[in-house]
Amino acid sequence: MGEPPSSGGNSVDRLGETLIDSERLHARVAELGAEIDADYAGRDLVLVGVLKGALIFMADLMRSLTLPCEIDLMAVSSYGSSTVSSGVVRILKDLDTSIEGRDVLVVEDIIDSGLTLQYLMRNLRARDPATLEVCSLLTKPERRRVELPIKYVGFEIPNVFAIGYGLDHAQRWRNLDYVAALEPTRS
Ligand code: IMP
Ligand code: MG
Repeated sequence: MGEPPSSGGNSVDRLGETLIDSERLHARVAELGAEIDADYAGRDLVLVGVLKGALIFMADLMRSLTLPCEIDLMAVSSYGSSTVSSGVVRILKDLDTSIEGRDVLVVEDIIDSGLTLQYLMRNLRARDPATLEVCSLLTKPERRRVELPIKYVGFEIPNVFAIGYGLDHAQRWRNLDYVAALEPTRS
């Protein structure tokens, strides 16, 4: 996980400023779809969504593609209770399909430290896909701890905790149709 602003036991989290409004968000997803469409023409594309954060992004991204593709889903979580990514990742739900020899595009909500993705890429690479790339809606370059090539990025955001459009804080806010910053207030 990333590092949500620290909050006291009785705190109530509130919506902070809008980082990416709905219109920009949907326009950018359509652009990414067009790029992927062009790049993967004639290939055997499998989109691998990382639950739960990538759910909304993946649903919109796949509908912006015109090429035939398959989807599959993984669920992962960091070991421990820490809000800071440890880099040790547990697979809660694995892929249903084999990706050997296929063109795999991992769809992520946000790359923060990069540790989760680093683990995931190593794990998936060991299954011998023909190609393995990443499409992330958001990235926080300031917090990156490992360098990873990310082929498609929707938006770079500053070092704030982002919510909405699939991203949660304590499992809430995923249903917003835009991306906002979390603003904690202590009660
Ligand atoms: P990383 O291992 O530090 O790159 O963290 C990856 C995961 O932490 C992401 O896929 C998200 O699920 C979660 N995460 C990191 N930053 C944020 C944020 O700002 N808002 C919501 N979730 C986040
Ligand atoms: Mg994630």
